[in-house]
Amino acid sequence: MEIILAKSAGFCFGVKRATQMAFDASSQHEQIHSLGPLIHSPQVVEQLEQQGVRVCKQVAEIPGGAVVVRSHGITAEEMQEIEDKHLQVIDATCPFVKKAQDYAEKLSADGYLVVLVGEADHPEVQGIFSYAKGEAVVVTCADDVKTLPENRKIGIVAQTTQPFENLKEIVDACLIKAKELRVYNTICDATTLRQREARQIAAEVDLMLVVGGFNSANTSRLARLCKEQQPCTHHIETAAQLEQSWFVNKEKVGLTAGASTPGWIIDEVVQRLKKIAAAG
Ligand code: F3S
Repeated sequence: MEIILAKSAGFCFGVKRATQMAFDASSQHEQIHSLGPLIHSPQVVEQLEQQGVRVCKQVAEIPGGAVVVRSHGITAEEMQEIEDKHLQVIDATCPFVKKAQDYAEKLSADGYLVVLVGEADHPEVQGIFSYAKGEAVVVTCADDVKTLPENRKIGIVAQTTQPFENLKEIVDACLIKAKELRVYNTICDATTLRQREARQIAAEVDLMLVVGGFNSANTSRLARLCKEQQPCTHHIETAAQLEQSWFVNKEKVGLTAGASTPGWIIDEVVQRLKKIAAAG
Protein backbone atom coordinates (compact mmCIF):
# COMPACT_ATOMS: atom_id res chain seq x y z
CA MET A 1 0.00 0.00 0.00
CA GLU A 2 1.38 3.37 -1.03
CA ILE A 3 0.91 6.28 1.38
CA ILE A 4 0.82 9.83 -0.03
CA LEU A 5 1.29 12.46 2.67
CA ALA A 6 0.34 16.05 1.80
CA LYS A 7 3.27 18.49 2.14
CA SER A 8 0.91 21.06 3.65
CA ALA A 9 -0.52 18.68 6.28
CA GLY A 10 -0.63 19.97 9.84
CA PHE A 11 0.15 23.21 11.66
CA CYS A 12 0.07 26.43 9.68
CA PHE A 13 2.54 29.19 10.53
CA GLY A 14 0.15 31.00 12.92
CA VAL A 15 -0.92 27.92 14.88
CA LYS A 16 2.66 26.66 15.15
CA ARG A 17 3.74 30.04 16.49
CA ALA A 18 0.84 30.24 18.98
CA THR A 19 1.43 26.71 20.29
CA GLN A 20 5.16 27.36 20.71
CA MET A 21 4.45 30.63 22.53
CA ALA A 22 2.00 28.88 24.89
CA PHE A 23 4.41 26.03 25.72
CA ASP A 24 7.29 28.50 26.25
CA ALA A 25 5.11 30.70 28.49
CA SER A 26 3.91 27.71 30.53
CA SER A 27 7.41 27.18 31.86
CA GLN A 28 7.83 30.87 32.73
CA HIS A 29 4.57 31.61 34.54
CA GLU A 30 3.06 30.00 37.62
CA GLN A 31 -0.47 30.99 36.75
CA ILE A 32 -1.41 30.91 33.09
CA HIS A 33 -4.70 30.72 31.21
CA SER A 34 -5.79 30.67 27.60
CA LEU A 35 -8.92 32.50 26.54
CA GLY A 36 -10.80 29.54 25.05
CA PRO A 37 -8.94 26.37 23.95
CA LEU A 38 -5.66 27.46 22.31
CA ILE A 39 -6.24 25.41 19.16
CA HIS A 40 -8.90 22.99 17.91
CA SER A 41 -6.95 19.93 18.88
CA PRO A 42 -8.18 18.28 22.10
CA GLN A 43 -4.86 16.40 22.34
CA VAL A 44 -2.74 19.59 22.29
CA VAL A 45 -5.11 21.35 24.71
CA GLU A 46 -4.68 18.38 27.09
CA GLN A 47 -0.87 18.59 26.82
CA LEU A 48 -1.02 22.31 27.58
CA GLU A 49 -3.26 21.64 30.56
CA GLN A 50 -0.65 19.22 31.89
CA GLN A 51 1.84 22.11 31.62
CA GLY A 52 -0.49 24.27 33.73
CA VAL A 53 -2.25 26.22 30.93
CA ARG A 54 -5.91 26.35 32.00
CA VAL A 55 -8.73 27.22 29.62
CA CYS A 56 -11.09 30.07 30.56
CA LYS A 57 -14.12 31.24 28.60
CA GLN A 58 -14.05 34.87 29.70
CA VAL A 59 -11.52 37.36 30.99
CA ALA A 60 -13.69 37.77 34.12
CA GLU A 61 -12.91 34.14 35.09
CA ILE A 62 -9.14 34.70 35.09
CA PRO A 63 -7.97 35.31 38.66
CA GLY A 64 -4.51 36.69 37.74
CA GLY A 65 -1.15 35.82 36.16
CA ALA A 66 -0.69 35.51 32.41
CA VAL A 67 -3.13 34.99 29.56
CA VAL A 68 -2.42 33.56 26.12
CA VAL A 69 -4.39 35.06 23.23
CA ARG A 70 -5.21 32.49 20.54
CA SER A 71 -4.01 32.66 16.93
CA HIS A 72 -7.36 33.90 15.64
CA GLY A 73 -7.32 36.81 18.07
CA ILE A 74 -9.83 38.36 20.47
CA THR A 75 -12.03 41.47 20.48
CA ALA A 76 -10.72 44.94 21.29
CA GLU A 77 -13.03 44.93 24.35
CA GLU A 78 -11.54 41.68 25.66
CA MET A 79 -8.03 43.09 25.17
CA GLN A 80 -9.07 46.17 27.14
CA GLU A 81 -10.47 43.97 29.94
CA ILE A 82 -7.15 42.10 30.10
CA GLU A 83 -5.28 45.39 30.39
CA ASP A 84 -7.68 46.69 33.04
CA LYS A 85 -7.07 43.56 35.12
CA HIS A 86 -3.28 44.02 34.73
CA LEU A 87 -2.87 40.47 33.42
CA GLN A 88 0.29 39.72 31.54
CA VAL A 89 -0.54 39.19 27.85
CA ILE A 90 1.11 36.61 25.65
CA ASP A 91 -0.38 37.76 22.37
CA ALA A 92 -0.26 34.79 19.99
CA THR A 93 -2.67 36.42 17.51
CA CYS A 94 -1.47 35.34 14.06
CA PRO A 95 0.23 38.33 12.36
CA PHE A 96 -2.09 37.84 9.35
CA VAL A 97 -5.16 38.14 11.58
CA LYS A 98 -3.60 41.16 13.31
CA LYS A 99 -3.21 42.76 9.89
CA ALA A 100 -6.93 42.29 9.18
CA GLN A 101 -7.75 43.87 12.57
CA ASP A 102 -5.47 46.83 11.77
CA TYR A 103 -7.05 47.34 8.33
CA ALA A 104 -10.56 47.30 9.83
CA GLU A 105 -9.48 49.93 12.35
CA LYS A 106 -7.80 52.09 9.71
CA LEU A 107 -10.70 51.88 7.25
CA SER A 108 -13.25 52.95 9.83
CA ALA A 109 -10.96 55.76 11.05
CA ASP A 110 -10.82 56.95 7.40
CA GLY A 111 -14.63 57.03 7.19
CA TYR A 112 -15.24 53.84 5.21
CA LEU A 113 -18.18 51.54 5.78
CA VAL A 114 -16.27 48.38 6.71
CA VAL A 115 -17.48 45.26 4.94
CA LEU A 116 -16.04 42.20 6.63
CA VAL A 117 -16.31 39.03 4.57
CA GLY A 118 -16.71 36.00 6.83
CA GLU A 119 -18.80 33.94 9.21
CA ALA A 120 -20.39 36.27 11.77
CA ASP A 121 -20.22 33.79 14.64
CA HIS A 122 -16.53 32.95 14.18
CA PRO A 123 -14.27 34.36 16.94
CA GLU A 124 -11.75 35.66 14.36
CA VAL A 125 -14.50 37.65 12.62
CA GLN A 126 -15.83 38.97 15.93
CA GLY A 127 -12.29 40.07 16.79
CA ILE A 128 -11.67 41.86 13.46
CA PHE A 129 -15.15 43.40 13.57
CA SER A 130 -14.55 44.89 17.02
CA TYR A 131 -11.63 46.97 15.66
CA ALA A 132 -13.91 48.78 13.21
CA LYS A 133 -14.99 51.66 15.39
CA GLY A 134 -17.39 53.22 12.91
CA GLU A 135 -20.03 51.60 10.71
CA ALA A 136 -19.30 47.98 9.90
CA VAL A 137 -21.12 44.94 8.63
CA VAL A 138 -20.31 41.23 8.26
CA VAL A 139 -21.30 39.70 4.91
CA THR A 140 -21.18 36.02 4.06
CA CYS A 141 -22.04 36.10 0.36
CA ALA A 142 -22.63 38.53 -2.54
CA ASP A 143 -26.38 38.45 -1.87
CA ASP A 144 -25.81 40.14 1.51
CA VAL A 145 -24.43 43.20 -0.34
CA LYS A 146 -27.94 44.01 -1.67
CA THR A 147 -28.96 45.45 1.69
CA LEU A 148 -25.95 47.81 1.93
CA PRO A 149 -26.52 51.55 1.43
CA GLU A 150 -25.71 53.06 -2.03
CA ASN A 151 -23.06 55.60 -2.87
CA ARG A 152 -20.75 55.12 0.10
CA LYS A 153 -17.04 54.72 0.65
CA ILE A 154 -16.73 50.96 1.21
CA GLY A 155 -13.66 49.21 2.62
CA ILE A 156 -13.40 45.44 2.44
CA VAL A 157 -11.42 43.03 4.63
CA ALA A 158 -11.83 39.26 4.86
CA GLN A 159 -11.64 36.48 7.42
CA THR A 160 -8.28 34.83 6.71
CA THR A 161 -9.81 31.44 5.84
CA GLN A 162 -12.37 32.70 3.30
CA PRO A 163 -12.43 31.18 -0.21
CA PHE A 164 -10.95 33.69 -2.69
CA GLU A 165 -13.92 33.25 -5.09
CA ASN A 166 -16.35 34.42 -2.41
CA LEU A 167 -14.29 37.56 -1.71
CA LYS A 168 -14.15 38.24 -5.44
CA GLU A 169 -17.93 37.97 -5.86
CA ILE A 170 -18.48 40.32 -2.91
CA VAL A 171 -15.95 42.82 -4.29
CA ASP A 172 -17.80 42.77 -7.64
CA ALA A 173 -21.15 43.38 -5.93
CA CYS A 174 -19.71 46.26 -3.87
CA LEU A 175 -18.10 47.83 -6.93
CA ILE A 176 -21.55 48.43 -8.40
CA LYS A 177 -22.82 50.07 -5.20
CA ALA A 178 -19.90 52.04 -3.82
CA LYS A 179 -18.86 55.63 -4.45
CA GLU A 180 -15.32 54.53 -3.67
CA LEU A 181 -13.99 51.05 -2.97
CA ARG A 182 -10.90 49.94 -1.08
CA VAL A 183 -10.10 46.22 -0.83
CA TYR A 184 -7.61 44.53 1.46
CA ASN A 185 -7.19 40.90 0.52
CA THR A 186 -6.49 39.46 3.97
CA ILE A 187 -7.04 35.84 2.95
CA CYS A 188 -4.20 33.63 4.11
CA ASP A 189 -2.66 31.34 1.48
CA ALA A 190 -2.11 28.50 3.95
CA THR A 191 -5.76 27.45 3.80
CA THR A 192 -6.07 27.66 -0.01
CA LEU A 193 -2.84 25.74 -0.57
CA ARG A 194 -3.81 23.02 1.90
CA GLN A 195 -7.25 22.64 0.32
CA ARG A 196 -5.86 22.55 -3.23
CA GLU A 197 -3.27 19.90 -2.37
CA ALA A 198 -5.81 17.80 -0.43
CA ARG A 199 -8.21 17.85 -3.38
CA GLN A 200 -5.47 16.82 -5.81
CA ILE A 201 -4.35 13.90 -3.64
CA ALA A 202 -7.94 12.77 -2.90
CA ALA A 203 -8.60 12.58 -6.65
CA GLU A 204 -5.79 10.11 -7.24
CA VAL A 205 -6.02 7.71 -4.29
CA ASP A 206 -8.34 4.83 -3.31
CA LEU A 207 -8.87 6.14 0.19
CA MET A 208 -8.29 9.53 1.79
CA LEU A 209 -7.62 10.28 5.45
CA VAL A 210 -8.06 13.71 7.00
CA VAL A 211 -6.59 14.06 10.48
CA GLY A 212 -7.69 16.72 12.96
CA GLY A 213 -10.03 17.72 15.77
CA PHE A 214 -13.70 16.95 15.17
CA ASN A 215 -14.30 20.47 16.57
CA SER A 216 -11.97 22.05 13.99
CA ALA A 217 -13.91 23.85 11.24
CA ASN A 218 -10.94 23.89 8.84
CA THR A 219 -10.36 20.14 9.23
CA SER A 220 -14.06 19.35 8.70
CA ARG A 221 -14.08 21.55 5.58
CA LEU A 222 -10.99 19.75 4.33
CA ALA A 223 -12.72 16.39 4.85
CA ARG A 224 -15.81 17.62 2.96
CA LEU A 225 -13.70 18.81 0.02
CA CYS A 226 -11.83 15.50 -0.11
CA LYS A 227 -15.11 13.56 0.01
CA GLU A 228 -16.24 15.38 -3.13
CA GLN A 229 -13.20 13.94 -4.94
CA GLN A 230 -13.03 10.60 -3.14
CA PRO A 231 -16.21 9.30 -1.42
CA CYS A 232 -14.03 6.94 0.57
CA THR A 233 -12.71 9.68 2.87
CA HIS A 234 -12.41 9.32 6.65
CA HIS A 235 -11.98 12.15 9.15
CA ILE A 236 -10.11 10.91 12.22
CA GLU A 237 -8.61 12.59 15.29
CA THR A 238 -5.99 10.00 16.22
CA ALA A 239 -4.26 6.87 14.92
CA ALA A 240 -6.35 4.73 17.29
CA GLN A 241 -9.43 5.47 15.18
CA LEU A 242 -8.01 3.78 12.06
CA GLU A 243 -9.84 0.57 11.23
CA GLN A 244 -7.96 -2.18 9.42
CA SER A 245 -11.05 -3.15 7.38
CA TRP A 246 -10.99 0.24 5.59
CA PHE A 247 -7.79 -0.72 3.79
CA VAL A 248 -8.81 -4.01 2.20
CA ASN A 249 -8.00 -3.81 -1.55
CA LYS A 250 -6.73 -0.23 -1.25
CA GLU A 251 -3.47 0.39 -3.05
CA LYS A 252 -3.05 4.14 -2.63
CA VAL A 253 -3.90 6.00 0.56
CA GLY A 254 -3.78 9.80 0.82
CA LEU A 255 -3.25 11.67 4.06
CA THR A 256 -3.66 15.30 5.02
CA ALA A 257 -4.32 17.15 8.26
CA GLY A 258 -5.94 20.37 9.42
CA ALA A 259 -4.02 23.49 10.43
CA SER A 260 -4.41 22.65 14.12
CA THR A 261 -3.15 19.07 13.93
CA PRO A 262 0.28 18.62 15.53
CA GLY A 263 3.07 16.75 13.75
CA TRP A 264 3.24 13.99 16.36
CA ILE A 265 -0.38 12.96 15.69
CA ILE A 266 0.33 12.84 11.92
CA ASP A 267 3.47 10.74 12.62
CA GLU A 268 1.44 8.29 14.71
CA VAL A 269 -1.10 7.90 11.90
CA VAL A 270 1.69 7.29 9.35
CA GLN A 271 3.31 4.67 11.61
CA ARG A 272 -0.01 2.87 12.13
CA LEU A 273 -0.68 2.95 8.39
CA LYS A 274 2.72 1.39 7.72
CA LYS A 275 1.90 -1.40 10.15
CA ILE A 276 -1.47 -1.99 8.46
CA ALA A 277 0.25 -2.03 5.06
CA ALA A 278 2.87 -4.51 6.29
CA ALA A 279 0.19 -6.78 7.76
CA GLY A 280 -1.89 -6.68 4.56
FE1 F3S B 1 -2.54 32.54 10.49
FE2 F3S B 1 -3.19 31.64 8.13
FE3 F3S B 1 -2.85 29.98 10.11
S1 F3S B 1 -4.03 33.41 9.15
S2 F3S B 1 -3.43 31.12 11.90
S3 F3S B 1 -1.28 31.28 9.17
S4 F3S B 1 -4.37 29.82 8.51
